Amino acid sequence: MKTNLTIFLLGFFLFGNAQHKTITVKVNEPVADIQPTMYGVFFEDINLGADGGIYAELIKNRSFEFTKPLMGWKVEQKPFREGAVMVVNRQEKEHQANPRFLRVKLENTQKDALVMTNEGFRGMGIKQGLRYDFSFMYRATSSAIKMHIDLVNATGQKIGGTVVNVNGEKEGWQKHQVSFNAIAGEPKGKFSISFEGTGTIDLDMISLFPSDTWKGRPGGMRADMIQMLADMKPGFIRFPGGCIVEGFNLENRYQWKKTIGPIEERELIINRWNMEFAHKPAPDYFQTFGLGFFEYFQLAEDIGAEPLPILNCGMACQFNSAEVTPMDQLDPFVQDALDLIEFANGEVTTTWGKRRAEMGHPAPFNLKFMGVGNENWGPQYLERLEVFKNAIKQKYPDFKIIGSAGTDPSGERFDLLNTSMRKMGIDLIDEHFYRKPSWFLENARRYDQYPRTGAKIFAGEYAGHDERVPAGGPTKNNWRAAMAEAAFLTGVERNAEVVQLASYAPLFAHVDGWQWSPDLIWVDNLRVYGTPSYHVQKLFSLNKGTKVIPLQYNNDVLAGQDSVYASAVLDESRKEVIIKLVNAKPQAEAFNFDLPGMKLKAKEASVLLMAYGNDLLSNSLESPFAVAPVENRLPVKAKGTVYQAPGYSFSVIRIPVK
Ligand code: AHR
Repeated sequence: MKTNLTIFLLGFFLFGNAQHKTITVKVNEPVADIQPTMYGVFFEDINLGADGGIYAELIKNRSFEFTKPLMGWKVEQKPFREGAVMVVNRQEKEHQANPRFLRVKLENTQKDALVMTNEGFRGMGIKQGLRYDFSFMYRATSSAIKMHIDLVNATGQKIGGTVVNVNGEKEGWQKHQVSFNAIAGEPKGKFSISFEGTGTIDLDMISLFPSDTWKGRPGGMRADMIQMLADMKPGFIRFPGGCIVEGFNLENRYQWKKTIGPIEERELIINRWNMEFAHKPAPDYFQTFGLGFFEYFQLAEDIGAEPLPILNCGMACQFNSAEVTPMDQLDPFVQDALDLIEFANGEVTTTWGKRRAEMGHPAPFNLKFMGVGNENWGPQYLERLEVFKNAIKQKYPDFKIIGSAGTDPSGERFDLLNTSMRKMGIDLIDEHFYRKPSWFLENARRYDQYPRTGAKIFAGEYAGHDERVPAGGPTKNNWRAAMAEAAFLTGVERNAEVVQLASYAPLFAHVDGWQWSPDLIWVDNLRVYGTPSYHVQKLFSLNKGTKVIPLQYNNDVLAGQDSVYASAVLDESRKEVIIKLVNAKPQAEAFNFDLPGMKLKAKEASVLLMAYGNDLLSNSLESPFAVAPVENRLPVKAKGTVYQAPGYSFSVIRIPVK
């Protein structure tokens, strides 16, 4: 956050001034608790979110299991020898998850005569001076084999590497690991292996990780991307999606049990975003599951967020194959859900609790809720959901079930789901809305009329899609979209009794590998930046408070009158009243804040301000903080504080109280 330490007179003292709209904040009349989970993040492996994104592996197709086994690799031989490099497919049962490996046959091969180069995920981001950890599995017939390992820059120069002398004495597969430093940086690097010597070597799981992963974990996550999440202090992290949960068919659905255990035994599948959009094909997009459910739980714990998994409900994506599992064959799906709860929470003596402990986490992850189905709808969904609900509640009565309200926040499908899930006793309803900014403004009162009892709301996926952005994209969300989301979120906050979780979607996008836009955070191989929406989400999350307090204008909520939207909370531990105010029109407007019965603790409030004359403004890799909050000071008085809200602005005003 940019901080302006000088006292900036955004407002001036006046009270009882008729020119200013008086906003009354009834600090002593809290209406609802704000759940610690309130603002979270939605993670999906879309736009190179996991492979090529937060999962820091630099080698694409390390196990040769992509549909085309050598995709991502280039093999160069001088002179060419037929059969020197072969893809071998093991037929044995124990290798079904990772059947292929590469066989390289050398005959007095000289250095640089047989070179394999991996292109990475849209290149590899290499940092000067950083240690890189190279590992691979192999078996060799001879010790007279050398592998020259190199990082290569965009012009073909070697920028760091090492030499591996292969051990041909040992029987069977062995793992070798070696580290080396990069001597120069490169945003679009490659990685090469030059073979030298005589003999046969079989290779699998060829892997390269930077050493500066999140928490320094070997084989871990990209620290700069995870830091962006940690900085938001999210209340929950939803994973693994999104449509990826459903798959384009049932075969291709997300199955958590295949994503845990040794990484060489995790069976990869084609990423459904590989082919979802004809205009954005991504034939090299797979889910290797190096980042699997254990890692997601660990990530949630690291960043202090509640884990929120979504599981397949026995239905594939209804926009694609719409396959369903017959009702009499639903048991394995339901069992997956029950086993997941045991994996997360069970004693280490239970089957799945033991698996968790074996992976290095004997303590439970304290999973409290789970989504059953993503964007599923119709009676076929409801009957499956009910089976899940009954089975889960029977074994874990306090466990919370989240049901899907489909793709749209209104209409016949929505009405059927909403009514039926409430009758069924579903705990939380997952609503999605990808809409124009105007929709968010018009729906700032959406939750005011929602029932206060029964199912709560998970605003699980939303984003303002500005229609003014030229086609062809990517659509970077701009200030207008973010401001509209902020306006909508004041309505969410006012109704914290009803809405208990909210997350923008999707979360990450790679500038050279996206399929869907807008997104919250953009990256290239070395850089990362938050969009205007990121800063809005972060402001809400970091200033969520503990109690909703009434904020009134003319005895009404402030939700669109003259394009102004506002909400207020009390933060009991920080002892602050926090007012969030959006002025969505171009003109500035002055307000008089009245906090009856409240004693102020200081003469100044802090104002976190986002205000831009140009509502098309966005951030970029080159200009990452063009739209980001600045901190100012505002003189305050209990009986009336005047605050001048600039045009096109979002302000978070934190008033210290006794
Ligand atoms: O966030 C992108 C996609 O939007 C999600 O995968 C899906 O749930 C929704 O349609």
